[in-house]
Amino acid sequence: MKYPNQSVKPISTKINNKGNLEISKVDLVDLAKKYKTPLYVIDKPTLEKMAKDYIDAFSRYKNTKILFASKALMTGAVAKVLSSLGLGFDVVSLGEMYTLINAGIDLKKSSFNGNNKSIEEIEFALDKEIDHFSVDNFFELKQLNEAALRKNKIQKIHIRITPNIECHTHDYIKTGQTDSKFGFPIEKINDVVDLILNQYKNLNLVGLHAHIGSQIFETQPYYDLVGVLLGEIKKIKDKYNYELSEINIGGGLGITYSENDNPPSVYDIASVVIQSIEDNTKKFDLKKPILYIEPGRSLVCSAGFTLYTIGSTKKIEGIRKYITVDGGMADNPRPSMYQALYCAQVANKKENNKKEIVTVAGKFCESGDILIKDIELDNPQTGDILCVFDTGAYCYSMSSNYNNILKPAMVMIEEGKDKLIVRRQTLEQLVQNDIVN
Ligand SMILES: Cc1ncc(COP(=O)(O)O)c(C=O)c1O
Repeated sequence: MKYPNQSVKPISTKINNKGNLEISKVDLVDLAKKYKTPLYVIDKPTLEKMAKDYIDAFSRYKNTKILFASKALMTGAVAKVLSSLGLGFDVVSLGEMYTLINAGIDLKKSSFNGNNKSIEEIEFALDKEIDHFSVDNFFELKQLNEAALRKNKIQKIHIRITPNIECHTHDYIKTGQTDSKFGFPIEKINDVVDLILNQYKNLNLVGLHAHIGSQIFETQPYYDLVGVLLGEIKKIKDKYNYELSEINIGGGLGITYSENDNPPSVYDIASVVIQSIEDNTKKFDLKKPILYIEPGRSLVCSAGFTLYTIGSTKKIEGIRKYITVDGGMADNPRPSMYQALYCAQVANKKENNKKEIVTVAGKFCESGDILIKDIELDNPQTGDILCVFDTGAYCYSMSSNYNNILKPAMVMIEEGKDKLIVRRQTLEQLVQNDIVN
């Protein structure tokens, strides 16, 4: 059985009797006509399935808290779906916190991450009683302690460390030295704990946090990470007679962007993590900690897809054929930023039509604005609707107004119904901050 993070398409994707792509009983060609393109779409059942899989997979370890890494996709409606299932949020900015509050979601289950939190952000999070901060560096420790003191609060914190494990997709290295802008080098933990216990009386240190990378296709790094975090907790316990009770293992579980990707499921990750907690708490003679995980991509990615209309086409004899869509690198910067691969399908054509290998280009003024290189599509023509899958994570959240092109709308679909959840940007909004005279 494939879980959503192991599948390119949302769970109920099919071709309907009109020959069109259909997801959750919604005809995607009708949807494109109704809302225009480009259009981000979120399939609610796939989103809920992934969140429920996370909850179910980790339910064997009762002390698990799941935080959605907001950076992957932060809109009020998506946050409400996840919050209603009991998830909290990993936030990194005032804007992410504000979006949650605006959606009626408090911060009491959330964690504040980031390597350069401003005073305004720190104070906002304190005022809104965020569950905890993941403190990243010495500067922040001092700033946060002072802000908490001003507000007469004792703030719960984790400290973020670089655990000397680094991985992206298949590259998995235990690094000898730490070179990351995030977190305290593991060798500095004693200095940090000294400061907190002896000087920063408005901070309540309860846990350790680490995030080892993204698009991780192996389970072993998670096993090792839990071992590193619990090993450090043991050292702190021995030295200070002070036992930390929480660990946060970050996010990073990989997803299937193309048929060659073969990530583990959330159940595979959960059993390895839980096993490592069992083994390492025994080994180090520690109490079982509260476990935080903060997945982003794997929770939302395959729930999302983008609909485009094909415009101009250009055939360079003997080289390639370009088809150009009405969006591109501003609504999905991932291919131009790091050669990310995507799958797509013409939404208004039956499969097994006349196949053609084409390159899907965006409309932005950069030669690098190529969404998909050399993909086989069903006879793509001007006016056709192209569905690019797996755009739920890091597309809307990384989108820009490059070339002053308006940001797309977003729609959530379920059971034959569609609901606008982010309005299409307007020209008035585009220039609203311009001061002309
Ligand atoms: C601290 C932290 N937690 C969680 C995540 C989410 O990672 P992913 O989307 O790969 O699950 C990130 C991503 O950069 C991160 O930096």
